[in-house]
Amino acid sequence: MLATLWLLLSLAIPVLVFHTTSSCPNEKSCQKALLSDNDIFLPCNSSGAQWYFFFLQDKASWSNKVSSVSNIEIIPGTGILIRDPAPSQTGFYHCQDRNGIPVVQYEIDFQDVSTLHITHRGLGQKPLQNETLSLGGAELIFTRWEPWQDCNRCGEPGERKRLGYCYIKEPLQEPMPCWLYLGDLKLWSSRMRPEMQVEACQVPCKISTVDFITFDNFEIREDLGSVWLTCPLGSIYRPILWEVNDIPLTWQGQLSNQVLSSILEPTSGGRQLQVFEPAIYKCFVKQELMARFNPRPFPDVLETLQQEEAGPQLESREAWKGKARSVLKALKLMLLVGIVLGLLGLLLKLCHPSQHKRSDQVLLVK
Ligand SMILES: *[C@@H]1O[C@H](CO)[C@@H](O)[C@H](O)[C@H]1NC(C)=O
Ligand SMILES: *[C@@H]1O[C@H](CO)[C@@H](O)[C@H](O)[C@H]1NC(C)=O
Repeated sequence: MLATLWLLLSLAIPVLVFHTTSSCPNEKSCQKALLSDNDIFLPCNSSGAQWYFFFLQDKASWSNKVSSVSNIEIIPGTGILIRDPAPSQTGFYHCQDRNGIPVVQYEIDFQDVSTLHITHRGLGQKPLQNETLSLGGAELIFTRWEPWQDCNRCGEPGERKRLGYCYIKEPLQEPMPCWLYLGDLKLWSSRMRPEMQVEACQVPCKISTVDFITFDNFEIREDLGSVWLTCPLGSIYRPILWEVNDIPLTWQGQLSNQVLSSILEPTSGGRQLQVFEPAIYKCFVKQELMARFNPRPFPDVLETLQQEEAGPQLESREAWKGKARSVLKALKLMLLVGIVLGLLGLLLKLCHPSQHKRSDQVLLVK
């Protein structure tokens, strides 16, 4: 059920929030490093736009067949959405208008998030050092840092993160993202990795009026021992905070190898949380509560029913099971209705043009 709702949510959100300002302002071409496996939207403000792709690793010629790339979706008149981009999709993305005139050209380096180098300032962990590329030249490999994201919590100590991308610089040249620089050259260096750095922060709170969704049905299956929770509208490119029974989870705790009952998924910047015990989990994006996950209540209901039944031993076990099943069905139905209403509420909120706050929810490429 959760999966279906997620599908609904993830299908609905892009369409609803993708009407923000065009990126690459005053420029027709942008070069940008991003992370693989994290959805991204490339805007192109032109109706009847045609897209052409060229992946550096794959010497095939230009192709405008979007249907040939399963994880790229054209949102007509606004741009393309790339879901879970792969490092092999590093390359050029050109958008032309209906007359074939270039509107915007992106050069995107999807750096491999599975090699993300994570450090925490509070733990004295150091980011990667500058190194020279061993091609005999003077090319320098270094990390170009994005600005710090907002603090993930307000009023109390929180954490903030920033992403850093691998760049290569030749003397007297502008630096380039590593894999755009290398093209189809197969070169490997342990220095060539994207980075994420975390530090402590504390900021005052602003008034927030955003509604959140409640998921009332997560369940930790015995055979798996854990379950993944996904924060709606969370992204590695935005500040995220998880709380377990109102206690915040920190990267500091996770990176200092404390024994934890839940794990922030590093390659999604903590958008996903792996949990091993039933508890109330809340997630915040940009300091606003996005969702609350309550454990599935059914086993408790069943237990109560079982205890009641154990006394008089009137009904046969089978008849009782049938009864329990219909109670479960009714509960499930109620939950479904509740969640769908919550979801609709969120979607309406997103649609509502007066919510200026929401306008920056899209992951734009600057
Ligand atoms: C898209 O382009 C049109 C015409 O150039 C312009 O009027 C409009 O403001 C643009 N929209 C966005 C979101 O940039
Ligand atoms: C690494 O190289 C970059 C780019 O030249 C430079 O901005 C930065 O200061 C260097 N860092 C160190 C620690 O030398």
